[in-house]
Amino acid sequence: MKNIDPTQTAAWQKLKIHFEEIKETHLSTLFKEDEKRFEKYSLEWRDFFIDLSKNRINDQTKALLIQLAKECGLEEAIQSMFNGEKINVTEGRAVLHTVLRDKGSDELYLDDQALKAEVYKVLAQIKTFTEDLHLGRIRGYSGKIITDLINIGIGGSDLGIAFAHEALRPYHHPGIQTHFVSNVDASNIVEVTKDLNPETCLFVIASKSFTTQETMTNAMTARSWFLDRVKDEEHISKHFVAVSTNVEKVKAFGINPKNMFVFWDWVGGRFSLSSAIGLSLACSIGYKNFEDMLEGMYQMDQHFQRTSFEENIPVLLAMISIWYNNFFDAAAEAILPYDDYLDKLALFLQQGFMESNGKYLSRAGKKVNYQTGQVLFGSAGTNGQHSFYQLIHQGTRMIPCDFIAPAISHHQVGDHHVKLLANFFAQPEALAFGTNPIEGQSDPDFKDVFRVFEGNRPTNSILIKKITPETLGSLIAMYEHKIFVQGIIWNIFSFDQWGVELGKKLAKAILPELENSATVTSHDNSTNGLINVWKRMSK
Ligand code: F6P
Repeated sequence: MKNIDPTQTAAWQKLKIHFEEIKETHLSTLFKEDEKRFEKYSLEWRDFFIDLSKNRINDQTKALLIQLAKECGLEEAIQSMFNGEKINVTEGRAVLHTVLRDKGSDELYLDDQALKAEVYKVLAQIKTFTEDLHLGRIRGYSGKIITDLINIGIGGSDLGIAFAHEALRPYHHPGIQTHFVSNVDASNIVEVTKDLNPETCLFVIASKSFTTQETMTNAMTARSWFLDRVKDEEHISKHFVAVSTNVEKVKAFGINPKNMFVFWDWVGGRFSLSSAIGLSLACSIGYKNFEDMLEGMYQMDQHFQRTSFEENIPVLLAMISIWYNNFFDAAAEAILPYDDYLDKLALFLQQGFMESNGKYLSRAGKKVNYQTGQVLFGSAGTNGQHSFYQLIHQGTRMIPCDFIAPAISHHQVGDHHVKLLANFFAQPEALAFGTNPIEGQSDPDFKDVFRVFEGNRPTNSILIKKITPETLGSLIAMYEHKIFVQGIIWNIFSFDQWGVELGKKLAKAILPELENSATVTSHDNSTNGLINVWKRMSK
Protein backbone atom coordinates (compact mmCIF):
# COMPACT_ATOMS: atom_id res chain seq x y z
CA MET A 1 0.00 0.00 0.00
CA LYS A 2 1.21 3.44 -0.86
CA ASN A 3 2.52 5.86 1.71
CA ILE A 4 0.91 9.18 0.85
CA ASP A 5 0.78 12.10 3.25
CA PRO A 6 -2.74 13.44 2.59
CA THR A 7 -1.73 16.98 3.54
CA GLN A 8 0.78 17.01 0.67
CA THR A 9 -1.82 16.28 -2.01
CA ALA A 10 -3.10 19.00 -4.33
CA ALA A 11 -6.65 18.22 -3.17
CA TRP A 12 -5.79 18.88 0.50
CA GLN A 13 -4.24 22.22 -0.36
CA LYS A 14 -7.33 23.15 -2.37
CA LEU A 15 -9.60 21.97 0.43
CA LYS A 16 -7.75 24.30 2.81
CA ILE A 17 -8.50 27.27 0.59
CA HIS A 18 -12.04 26.07 -0.02
CA PHE A 19 -12.58 25.68 3.72
CA GLU A 20 -11.76 29.36 4.27
CA GLU A 21 -14.37 30.25 1.66
CA ILE A 22 -17.15 28.03 2.96
CA LYS A 23 -16.55 27.75 6.70
CA GLU A 24 -19.02 30.50 7.65
CA THR A 25 -21.68 29.52 5.12
CA HIS A 26 -24.85 28.48 6.87
CA LEU A 27 -26.76 25.37 5.86
CA SER A 28 -29.86 27.51 5.42
CA THR A 29 -27.97 29.52 2.76
CA LEU A 30 -26.89 26.33 0.99
CA PHE A 31 -30.52 25.18 0.91
CA LYS A 32 -31.75 28.59 -0.27
CA GLU A 33 -29.21 28.59 -3.09
CA ASP A 34 -30.29 25.21 -4.41
CA GLU A 35 -33.88 24.05 -4.38
CA LYS A 36 -32.82 20.58 -5.47
CA ARG A 37 -30.22 20.16 -2.73
CA PHE A 38 -32.03 17.22 -1.11
CA GLU A 39 -32.32 15.34 -4.42
CA LYS A 40 -28.74 16.16 -5.31
CA TYR A 41 -27.15 15.09 -2.05
CA SER A 42 -29.14 11.98 -1.28
CA LEU A 43 -28.66 8.37 -2.32
CA GLU A 44 -31.08 5.53 -2.64
CA TRP A 45 -29.63 2.04 -2.50
CA ARG A 46 -31.67 -1.14 -2.02
CA ASP A 47 -33.61 -0.59 1.26
CA PHE A 48 -31.50 2.42 2.26
CA PHE A 49 -32.12 6.10 1.74
CA ILE A 50 -29.23 8.32 2.77
CA ASP A 51 -29.65 12.07 3.00
CA LEU A 52 -26.32 13.89 2.97
CA SER A 53 -27.83 17.29 2.15
CA LYS A 54 -27.60 18.60 5.72
CA ASN A 55 -23.82 18.63 5.49
CA ARG A 56 -21.69 21.75 5.15
CA ILE A 57 -20.60 20.87 1.66
CA ASN A 58 -21.27 22.07 -1.85
CA ASP A 59 -20.40 20.63 -5.25
CA GLN A 60 -16.84 21.86 -4.98
CA THR A 61 -16.37 20.28 -1.54
CA LYS A 62 -17.63 16.97 -2.83
CA ALA A 63 -15.42 17.11 -5.91
CA LEU A 64 -12.34 17.99 -3.86
CA LEU A 65 -13.01 15.27 -1.29
CA ILE A 66 -13.29 12.73 -4.10
CA GLN A 67 -10.09 14.08 -5.63
CA LEU A 68 -8.43 13.67 -2.23
CA ALA A 69 -9.60 10.06 -2.04
CA LYS A 70 -8.16 9.38 -5.49
CA GLU A 71 -4.87 11.14 -4.81
CA CYS A 72 -4.51 9.10 -1.63
CA GLY A 73 -4.76 5.91 -3.69
CA LEU A 74 -8.16 4.79 -2.42
CA GLU A 75 -9.13 3.04 -5.67
CA GLU A 76 -6.00 0.86 -5.57
CA ALA A 77 -6.30 0.34 -1.82
CA ILE A 78 -9.85 -1.04 -2.15
CA GLN A 79 -8.69 -3.52 -4.76
CA SER A 80 -5.66 -4.46 -2.61
CA MET A 81 -7.93 -5.30 0.30
CA PHE A 82 -10.41 -7.33 -1.75
CA ASN A 83 -7.56 -9.13 -3.57
CA GLY A 84 -5.97 -10.27 -0.34
CA GLU A 85 -2.77 -8.26 -0.35
CA LYS A 86 -1.16 -8.15 3.08
CA ILE A 87 -2.30 -4.62 3.85
CA ASN A 88 -2.11 -5.24 7.62
CA VAL A 89 1.61 -4.67 7.23
CA THR A 90 2.69 -4.52 10.88
CA GLU A 91 1.15 -7.95 11.52
CA GLY A 92 1.98 -9.30 8.05
CA ARG A 93 -1.66 -10.22 7.36
CA ALA A 94 -4.26 -9.84 4.64
CA VAL A 95 -7.57 -8.20 5.52
CA LEU A 96 -10.28 -10.37 4.07
CA HIS A 97 -13.45 -10.20 6.17
CA THR A 98 -15.20 -9.59 2.82
CA VAL A 99 -14.39 -13.20 1.79
CA LEU A 100 -16.49 -14.47 4.69
CA ARG A 101 -19.65 -13.32 2.92
CA ASP A 102 -18.50 -13.41 -0.70
CA LYS A 103 -21.24 -15.05 -2.79
CA GLY A 104 -19.33 -14.65 -6.08
CA SER A 105 -18.23 -17.75 -7.93
CA ASP A 106 -14.48 -16.98 -8.07
CA GLU A 107 -12.23 -18.67 -5.52
CA LEU A 108 -9.71 -16.51 -3.71
CA TYR A 109 -6.25 -17.85 -2.91
CA LEU A 110 -3.98 -16.63 -0.17
CA ASP A 111 -0.52 -18.22 0.00
CA ASP A 112 -1.92 -21.01 -2.23
CA GLN A 113 -4.79 -21.68 0.18
CA ALA A 114 -8.31 -21.67 -1.29
CA LEU A 115 -10.11 -19.42 1.17
CA LYS A 116 -13.74 -19.67 0.15
CA ALA A 117 -13.70 -23.46 0.29
CA GLU A 118 -12.59 -23.16 3.93
CA VAL A 119 -15.21 -20.51 4.66
CA TYR A 120 -17.99 -22.70 3.25
CA LYS A 121 -16.85 -25.65 5.37
CA VAL A 122 -17.17 -23.61 8.55
CA LEU A 123 -20.50 -22.13 7.46
CA ALA A 124 -21.80 -25.66 6.89
CA GLN A 125 -20.58 -26.59 10.38
CA ILE A 126 -22.39 -23.56 11.87
CA LYS A 127 -25.55 -24.45 9.94
CA THR A 128 -25.58 -28.04 11.20
CA PHE A 129 -24.81 -26.98 14.75
CA THR A 130 -27.48 -24.29 14.81
CA GLU A 131 -30.14 -26.53 13.31
CA ASP A 132 -29.27 -29.42 15.60
CA LEU A 133 -29.48 -27.10 18.58
CA HIS A 134 -32.87 -25.78 17.55
CA LEU A 135 -34.22 -29.25 16.81
CA GLY A 136 -33.05 -30.51 20.19
CA ARG A 137 -30.54 -32.88 18.61
CA ILE A 138 -27.77 -31.24 20.64
CA ARG A 139 -28.52 -31.90 24.27
CA GLY A 140 -26.78 -31.59 27.60
CA TYR A 141 -25.13 -34.51 29.41
CA SER A 142 -28.38 -35.47 31.16
CA GLY A 143 -30.40 -35.48 27.94
CA LYS A 144 -32.11 -32.15 28.53
CA ILE A 145 -32.37 -29.65 25.69
CA ILE A 146 -30.09 -26.60 25.73
CA THR A 147 -31.93 -23.46 26.82
CA ASP A 148 -29.10 -21.05 27.61
CA LEU A 149 -26.09 -20.12 25.57
CA ILE A 150 -23.31 -18.10 27.17
CA ASN A 151 -20.88 -16.32 24.87
CA ILE A 152 -17.59 -15.69 26.64
CA GLY A 153 -15.42 -13.25 24.70
CA ILE A 154 -14.32 -9.62 24.70
CA GLY A 155 -13.81 -6.80 22.17
CA GLY A 156 -14.34 -8.12 18.67
CA SER A 157 -15.32 -11.49 20.12
CA ASP A 158 -18.20 -9.90 22.01
CA LEU A 159 -19.33 -6.43 20.88
CA GLY A 160 -20.56 -7.26 17.38
CA ILE A 161 -22.46 -10.36 18.48
CA ALA A 162 -23.93 -8.57 21.49
CA PHE A 163 -25.02 -5.65 19.28
CA ALA A 164 -26.52 -7.81 16.51
CA HIS A 165 -28.16 -10.09 19.07
CA GLU A 166 -30.10 -7.09 20.41
CA ALA A 167 -30.66 -5.57 16.97
CA LEU A 168 -32.27 -8.77 15.72
CA ARG A 169 -34.28 -9.61 18.83
CA PRO A 170 -37.51 -9.94 16.79
CA TYR A 171 -35.80 -12.83 14.96
CA HIS A 172 -34.75 -14.77 18.05
CA HIS A 173 -35.41 -18.46 18.14
CA PRO A 174 -37.83 -19.17 20.99
CA GLY A 175 -36.42 -21.37 23.69
CA ILE A 176 -32.79 -20.18 23.58
CA GLN A 177 -31.60 -17.35 25.80
CA THR A 178 -28.18 -15.94 24.92
CA HIS A 179 -26.02 -14.28 27.57
CA PHE A 180 -22.75 -12.40 27.27
CA VAL A 181 -19.76 -12.49 29.58
CA SER A 182 -16.90 -10.19 28.64
CA ASN A 183 -15.56 -8.26 31.63
CA VAL A 184 -12.95 -9.88 33.86
CA ASP A 185 -14.91 -8.40 36.78
CA ALA A 186 -16.42 -11.46 38.53
CA SER A 187 -19.72 -9.62 38.83
CA ASN A 188 -20.28 -10.23 35.12
CA ILE A 189 -20.03 -14.01 35.17
CA VAL A 190 -21.63 -14.37 38.61
CA GLU A 191 -24.71 -12.41 37.52
CA VAL A 192 -24.99 -14.32 34.25
CA THR A 193 -24.63 -17.80 35.74
CA LYS A 194 -26.45 -17.36 39.05
CA ASP A 195 -29.84 -18.68 37.88
CA LEU A 196 -28.61 -21.09 35.22
CA ASN A 197 -28.85 -24.84 35.25
CA PRO A 198 -25.60 -26.51 34.09
CA GLU A 199 -27.60 -29.33 32.47
CA THR A 200 -29.12 -26.91 29.95
CA CYS A 201 -26.20 -24.49 29.39
CA LEU A 202 -23.86 -24.24 26.46
CA PHE A 203 -20.72 -22.11 26.81
CA VAL A 204 -19.23 -20.65 23.63
CA ILE A 205 -15.65 -19.57 24.31
CA ALA A 206 -14.96 -17.00 21.59
CA SER A 207 -11.43 -15.71 21.21
CA LYS A 208 -9.38 -15.22 18.09
CA SER A 209 -6.12 -15.73 19.98
CA PHE A 210 -7.42 -17.93 22.82
CA THR A 211 -4.93 -16.14 25.06
CA THR A 212 -6.89 -13.03 26.08
CA GLN A 213 -6.68 -12.75 29.85
CA GLU A 214 -10.29 -11.69 30.43
CA THR A 215 -11.75 -14.44 28.25
CA MET A 216 -9.50 -17.18 29.54
CA THR A 217 -10.22 -16.22 33.15
CA ASN A 218 -13.97 -16.23 32.51
CA ALA A 219 -13.71 -19.50 30.61
CA MET A 220 -11.86 -21.15 33.53
CA THR A 221 -14.45 -19.80 35.97
CA ALA A 222 -17.25 -21.15 33.76
CA ARG A 223 -15.50 -24.52 33.69
CA SER A 224 -15.17 -24.58 37.49
CA TRP A 225 -18.79 -23.43 37.90
CA PHE A 226 -19.86 -26.30 35.67
CA LEU A 227 -17.64 -28.96 37.28
CA ASP A 228 -18.55 -27.88 40.83
CA ARG A 229 -22.13 -28.77 39.97
CA VAL A 230 -21.70 -31.65 37.56
CA LYS A 231 -18.59 -33.31 39.02
CA ASP A 232 -17.56 -35.12 35.85
CA GLU A 233 -15.04 -33.81 33.29
CA GLU A 234 -16.52 -36.16 30.67
CA HIS A 235 -19.54 -33.87 30.43
CA ILE A 236 -17.51 -30.83 29.39
CA SER A 237 -17.60 -31.89 25.75
CA LYS A 238 -21.38 -31.49 25.65
CA HIS A 239 -21.36 -28.04 27.22
CA PHE A 240 -18.31 -26.17 25.91
CA VAL A 241 -17.47 -25.20 22.34
CA ALA A 242 -14.76 -22.85 21.10
CA VAL A 243 -14.48 -20.30 18.31
CA SER A 244 -10.89 -19.42 17.56
CA THR A 245 -7.99 -19.35 15.13
CA ASN A 246 -5.78 -21.18 17.64
CA VAL A 247 -6.35 -24.96 17.60
CA GLU A 248 -3.45 -25.71 19.96
CA LYS A 249 -4.66 -23.37 22.69
CA VAL A 250 -8.22 -24.69 22.35
CA LYS A 251 -6.93 -28.25 22.82
CA ALA A 252 -4.79 -27.16 25.77
CA PHE A 253 -7.89 -25.66 27.41
CA GLY A 254 -9.54 -29.07 27.19
CA ILE A 255 -12.02 -28.50 24.39
CA ASN A 256 -12.10 -31.22 21.77
CA PRO A 257 -11.19 -29.73 18.34
CA LYS A 258 -14.36 -31.33 16.94
CA ASN A 259 -16.23 -28.83 19.12
CA MET A 260 -14.26 -26.00 17.60
CA PHE A 261 -15.29 -23.50 14.92
CA VAL A 262 -12.29 -21.98 13.21
CA PHE A 263 -11.55 -18.69 11.55
CA TRP A 264 -8.31 -17.25 10.28
CA ASP A 265 -5.68 -14.61 10.95
CA TRP A 266 -6.87 -12.66 7.89
CA VAL A 267 -10.03 -11.76 9.81
CA GLY A 268 -9.44 -8.86 12.20
CA GLY A 269 -11.07 -9.24 15.62
CA ARG A 270 -13.28 -6.15 15.24
CA PHE A 271 -14.28 -7.23 11.72
CA SER A 272 -15.08 -10.82 12.70
CA LEU A 273 -18.86 -10.81 13.15
CA SER A 274 -19.33 -12.53 9.80
CA SER A 275 -16.86 -15.30 10.75
CA ALA A 276 -17.47 -18.20 13.14
CA ILE A 277 -17.38 -15.54 15.87
CA GLY A 278 -21.03 -15.06 14.85
CA LEU A 279 -21.83 -18.60 16.10
CA SER A 280 -23.74 -17.40 19.18
CA LEU A 281 -25.69 -14.98 16.99
CA ALA A 282 -26.51 -17.74 14.49
CA CYS A 283 -27.75 -19.83 17.41
CA SER A 284 -30.03 -17.06 18.62
CA ILE A 285 -31.46 -15.98 15.23
CA GLY A 286 -31.20 -19.22 13.26
CA TYR A 287 -28.88 -20.05 10.38
CA LYS A 288 -31.17 -18.67 7.64
CA ASN A 289 -31.22 -15.25 9.29
CA PHE A 290 -27.46 -15.38 9.83
CA GLU A 291 -27.05 -16.13 6.14
CA ASP A 292 -29.32 -13.18 5.29
CA MET A 293 -27.08 -10.93 7.37
CA LEU A 294 -24.08 -12.16 5.37
CA GLU A 295 -26.01 -11.47 2.18
CA GLY A 296 -26.63 -7.87 3.30
CA MET A 297 -22.92 -7.48 4.02
CA TYR A 298 -22.02 -8.92 0.64
CA GLN A 299 -24.34 -6.48 -1.11
CA MET A 300 -22.67 -3.55 0.63
CA ASP A 301 -19.20 -5.01 -0.14
CA GLN A 302 -20.16 -5.14 -3.80
CA HIS A 303 -21.51 -1.60 -3.72
CA PHE A 304 -18.31 -0.37 -2.04
CA GLN A 305 -16.00 -2.21 -4.43
CA ARG A 306 -17.82 -1.37 -7.65
CA THR A 307 -19.53 2.01 -7.31
CA SER A 308 -17.96 5.26 -8.43
CA PHE A 309 -16.92 7.46 -5.52
CA GLU A 310 -19.60 10.04 -6.44
CA GLU A 311 -22.30 7.54 -5.46
CA ASN A 312 -20.38 5.32 -3.05
CA ILE A 313 -22.03 5.34 0.37
CA PRO A 314 -19.08 4.34 2.61
CA VAL A 315 -16.70 6.54 0.62
CA LEU A 316 -18.92 9.63 0.88
CA LEU A 317 -19.61 9.09 4.58
CA ALA A 318 -15.90 8.68 5.25
CA MET A 319 -14.82 11.69 3.21
CA ILE A 320 -17.44 13.99 4.74
CA SER A 321 -16.27 12.85 8.16
CA ILE A 322 -12.66 13.68 7.17
CA TRP A 323 -13.85 17.12 6.07
CA TYR A 324 -15.18 17.82 9.57
CA ASN A 325 -12.35 16.11 11.42
CA ASN A 326 -9.43 17.66 9.58
CA PHE A 327 -10.78 21.00 8.43
CA PHE A 328 -13.47 21.96 10.97
CA ASP A 329 -11.50 20.29 13.78
CA ALA A 330 -14.45 18.15 14.91
CA ALA A 331 -13.16 15.49 17.29
CA ALA A 332 -16.29 13.45 17.95
CA GLU A 333 -19.18 11.91 16.04
CA ALA A 334 -22.52 10.75 17.37
CA ILE A 335 -24.30 7.59 16.26
CA LEU A 336 -28.01 8.06 16.92
CA PRO A 337 -30.26 5.17 15.98
CA TYR A 338 -33.99 5.81 16.34
CA ASP A 339 -34.59 2.17 17.05
CA ASP A 340 -34.31 0.73 20.52
CA TYR A 341 -32.99 -2.54 19.15
CA LEU A 342 -29.94 -0.67 17.79
CA ASP A 343 -29.07 0.82 21.17
CA LYS A 344 -25.66 -0.90 21.24
CA LEU A 345 -24.61 0.32 17.79
CA ALA A 346 -22.31 3.05 19.09
CA LEU A 347 -20.72 0.66 21.60
CA PHE A 348 -19.98 -1.77 18.78
CA LEU A 349 -18.69 0.88 16.39
CA GLN A 350 -16.49 2.46 19.04
CA GLN A 351 -14.11 -0.48 18.79
CA GLY A 352 -14.24 -0.50 15.00
CA PHE A 353 -13.45 3.18 14.62
CA MET A 354 -11.30 3.90 17.63
CA GLU A 355 -9.18 0.73 17.70
CA SER A 356 -8.67 0.95 13.93
CA ASN A 357 -7.99 4.63 13.42
CA GLY A 358 -6.71 5.87 16.77
CA LYS A 359 -3.10 5.98 15.51
CA TYR A 360 -0.49 8.73 15.43
CA LEU A 361 2.02 6.94 13.21
CA SER A 362 1.77 7.13 9.45
CA ARG A 363 2.32 4.15 7.18
CA ALA A 364 5.91 5.36 6.96
CA GLY A 365 6.25 5.02 10.75
CA LYS A 366 6.46 8.81 11.24
CA LYS A 367 4.32 10.91 13.53
CA VAL A 368 1.50 12.54 11.54
CA ASN A 369 0.86 16.27 11.80
CA TYR A 370 -2.91 16.09 11.38
CA GLN A 371 -5.77 14.58 13.37
CA THR A 372 -6.74 10.93 12.89
CA GLY A 373 -9.64 9.01 14.35
CA GLN A 374 -12.82 10.28 15.93
CA VAL A 375 -14.35 9.79 19.35
CA LEU A 376 -17.59 7.93 18.80
CA PHE A 377 -20.55 7.92 21.15
CA GLY A 378 -24.31 7.66 21.02
CA SER A 379 -27.40 5.86 22.18
CA ALA A 380 -30.88 5.14 20.96
CA GLY A 381 -33.13 8.10 20.24
CA THR A 382 -35.11 9.52 21.98
CA ASN A 383 -33.16 8.71 25.15
CA GLY A 384 -30.14 10.68 23.96
CA GLN A 385 -32.32 13.74 23.39
CA HIS A 386 -32.95 13.91 27.13
CA SER A 387 -29.29 13.46 27.90
CA PHE A 388 -26.43 14.69 25.71
CA TYR A 389 -28.17 16.43 22.77
CA GLN A 390 -27.96 19.82 24.51
CA LEU A 391 -24.23 19.87 23.81
CA ILE A 392 -24.80 18.92 20.17
CA HIS A 393 -27.37 21.73 19.73
CA GLN A 394 -25.79 24.56 21.69
CA GLY A 395 -22.31 23.42 22.70
CA THR A 396 -19.15 25.06 21.44
CA ARG A 397 -18.02 21.98 19.51
CA MET A 398 -19.17 20.64 16.20
CA ILE A 399 -20.41 17.05 16.60
CA PRO A 400 -21.46 15.58 13.25
CA CYS A 401 -24.24 13.01 13.74
CA ASP A 402 -25.56 9.95 11.97
CA PHE A 403 -29.33 9.69 12.48
CA ILE A 404 -30.55 6.18 11.63
CA ALA A 405 -34.15 4.97 11.60
CA PRO A 406 -36.28 2.18 10.23
CA ALA A 407 -39.24 3.31 8.11
CA ILE A 408 -41.25 0.37 9.43
CA SER A 409 -41.14 -0.69 13.06
CA HIS A 410 -41.34 -4.29 14.21
CA HIS A 411 -44.17 -3.20 16.48
CA GLN A 412 -47.27 -1.38 15.26
CA VAL A 413 -48.35 -0.24 18.70
CA GLY A 414 -50.46 2.92 18.91
CA ASP A 415 -48.61 5.94 17.58
CA HIS A 416 -45.19 5.05 19.00
CA HIS A 417 -43.44 4.81 15.68
CA VAL A 418 -44.71 8.06 14.21
CA LYS A 419 -43.81 9.83 17.44
CA LEU A 420 -40.33 8.30 17.28
CA LEU A 421 -39.93 9.29 13.65
CA ALA A 422 -41.24 12.81 14.29
CA ASN A 423 -38.21 13.16 16.56
CA PHE A 424 -35.92 11.53 14.00
CA PHE A 425 -36.96 14.16 11.44
CA ALA A 426 -37.06 17.07 13.90
CA GLN A 427 -33.58 16.76 15.36
CA PRO A 428 -31.56 17.09 12.13
CA GLU A 429 -33.87 19.95 11.12
CA ALA A 430 -33.23 21.76 14.39
CA LEU A 431 -29.49 21.09 14.17
CA ALA A 432 -29.25 22.35 10.60
CA PHE A 433 -31.48 25.40 10.65
CA GLY A 434 -31.79 26.38 14.31
CA THR A 435 -34.11 29.19 15.28
CA ASN A 436 -33.72 32.81 16.17
CA PRO A 437 -36.59 34.18 18.27
CA ILE A 438 -34.84 37.54 18.72
CA GLU A 439 -34.06 38.16 15.06
CA GLY A 440 -34.62 41.82 14.16
CA GLN A 441 -35.19 42.86 17.78
CA SER A 442 -33.00 45.76 18.86
CA ASP A 443 -33.46 45.16 22.59
CA PRO A 444 -34.35 41.48 23.09
CA ASP A 445 -35.41 40.10 26.42
CA PHE A 446 -32.32 38.71 28.17
CA LYS A 447 -33.89 35.25 28.61
CA ASP A 448 -34.73 35.01 24.92
CA VAL A 449 -31.05 35.21 24.01
CA PHE A 450 -30.68 31.69 25.41
CA ARG A 451 -33.44 30.40 23.16
CA VAL A 452 -31.42 31.05 20.03
CA PHE A 453 -30.21 27.93 18.23
CA GLU A 454 -27.60 28.97 15.73
CA GLY A 455 -27.96 25.73 13.74
CA ASN A 456 -25.47 24.91 10.99
CA ARG A 457 -24.69 21.60 12.72
CA PRO A 458 -24.20 18.79 10.21
CA THR A 459 -25.98 15.46 10.11
CA ASN A 460 -26.44 12.40 7.91
CA SER A 461 -29.92 10.86 7.94
CA ILE A 462 -30.08 7.16 7.15
CA LEU A 463 -33.55 5.78 6.63
CA ILE A 464 -33.79 2.00 6.30
CA LYS A 465 -37.01 0.31 5.22
CA LYS A 466 -36.94 -2.15 8.11
CA ILE A 467 -34.23 -3.57 10.35
CA THR A 468 -33.90 -7.13 9.09
CA PRO A 469 -30.88 -9.45 9.19
CA GLU A 470 -30.09 -8.34 5.63
CA THR A 471 -30.34 -4.58 6.14
CA LEU A 472 -28.44 -4.89 9.42
CA GLY A 473 -25.65 -6.70 7.57
CA SER A 474 -25.48 -3.87 5.04
CA LEU A 475 -25.40 -1.25 7.79
CA ILE A 476 -22.51 -3.00 9.55
CA ALA A 477 -20.53 -3.42 6.32
CA MET A 478 -21.17 0.24 5.48
CA TYR A 479 -19.42 1.30 8.67
CA GLU A 480 -16.64 -1.30 8.24
CA HIS A 481 -15.81 0.27 4.89
CA LYS A 482 -16.07 3.81 6.22
CA ILE A 483 -13.39 2.88 8.77
CA PHE A 484 -11.20 1.48 5.98
CA VAL A 485 -11.53 4.56 3.78
CA GLN A 486 -10.62 6.89 6.62
CA GLY A 487 -7.54 4.84 7.47
CA ILE A 488 -6.38 5.01 3.85
CA ILE A 489 -6.78 8.79 3.70
CA TRP A 490 -5.08 9.29 7.05
CA ASN A 491 -2.20 7.12 5.81
CA ILE A 492 -2.29 4.87 8.87
CA PHE A 493 -2.49 1.11 9.39
CA SER A 494 -6.11 0.51 10.43
CA PHE A 495 -5.89 -3.21 11.06
CA ASP A 496 -3.43 -3.52 13.92
CA GLN A 497 -3.90 -2.38 17.52
CA TRP A 498 -0.48 -2.02 19.11
CA GLY A 499 -1.83 0.68 21.39
CA VAL A 500 -3.61 -1.87 23.56
CA GLU A 501 -0.48 -3.91 24.27
CA LEU A 502 1.34 -1.83 26.88
CA GLY A 503 -1.59 -1.77 29.31
CA LYS A 504 -1.91 -5.57 29.03
CA LYS A 505 1.81 -6.02 29.68
CA LEU A 506 1.82 -3.75 32.72
CA ALA A 507 -1.27 -5.45 34.16
CA LYS A 508 0.56 -8.78 33.85
CA ALA A 509 3.51 -7.38 35.76
CA ILE A 510 1.30 -5.85 38.46
CA LEU A 511 -0.84 -8.96 39.04
CA PRO A 512 1.77 -10.91 41.11
CA GLU A 513 2.45 -7.76 43.11
CA LEU A 514 -1.18 -7.72 44.21
CA GLU A 515 -1.00 -11.29 45.43
CA ASN A 516 1.20 -10.63 48.48
CA SER A 517 1.29 -8.01 51.23
CA ALA A 518 4.77 -6.56 50.43
CA THR A 519 5.00 -2.82 49.81
CA VAL A 520 5.33 -2.16 46.09
CA THR A 521 8.19 0.06 44.89
CA SER A 522 8.78 -1.04 41.30
CA HIS A 523 6.66 1.63 39.56
CA ASP A 524 6.40 5.39 39.44
CA ASN A 525 5.46 7.21 42.62
CA SER A 526 1.75 7.43 41.82
CA THR A 527 1.27 3.81 40.74
CA ASN A 528 3.23 2.51 43.76
CA GLY A 529 1.16 4.78 45.98
CA LEU A 530 -2.17 3.60 44.59
CA ILE A 531 -1.25 -0.09 44.84
CA ASN A 532 -0.08 0.33 48.41
CA VAL A 533 -3.22 2.25 49.39
CA TRP A 534 -5.28 -0.57 47.86
CA LYS A 535 -3.33 -3.12 49.92
CA ARG A 536 -4.21 -1.18 53.07
CA MET A 537 -7.85 -0.61 52.07
CA SER A 538 -8.59 -4.15 51.01
CA LYS A 539 -7.46 -5.75 54.27
O1 F6P B 1 -8.47 -5.16 22.55
C1 F6P B 1 -7.50 -5.86 21.88
C2 F6P B 1 -8.05 -7.07 21.18
O2 F6P B 1 -6.98 -7.75 20.62
C3 F6P B 1 -9.11 -6.76 20.13
O3 F6P B 1 -8.58 -6.31 18.94
C4 F6P B 1 -9.84 -8.04 20.06
O4 F6P B 1 -11.08 -7.90 19.42
C5 F6P B 1 -9.95 -8.39 21.51
O5 F6P B 1 -8.71 -7.97 22.06
C6 F6P B 1 -10.21 -9.84 21.82
O6 F6P B 1 -9.22 -10.68 21.30
P1 F6P B 1 -9.43 -12.22 21.16
O7 F6P B 1 -10.57 -12.47 20.24
O8 F6P B 1 -8.13 -12.76 20.63
O9 F6P B 1 -9.73 -12.78 22.54
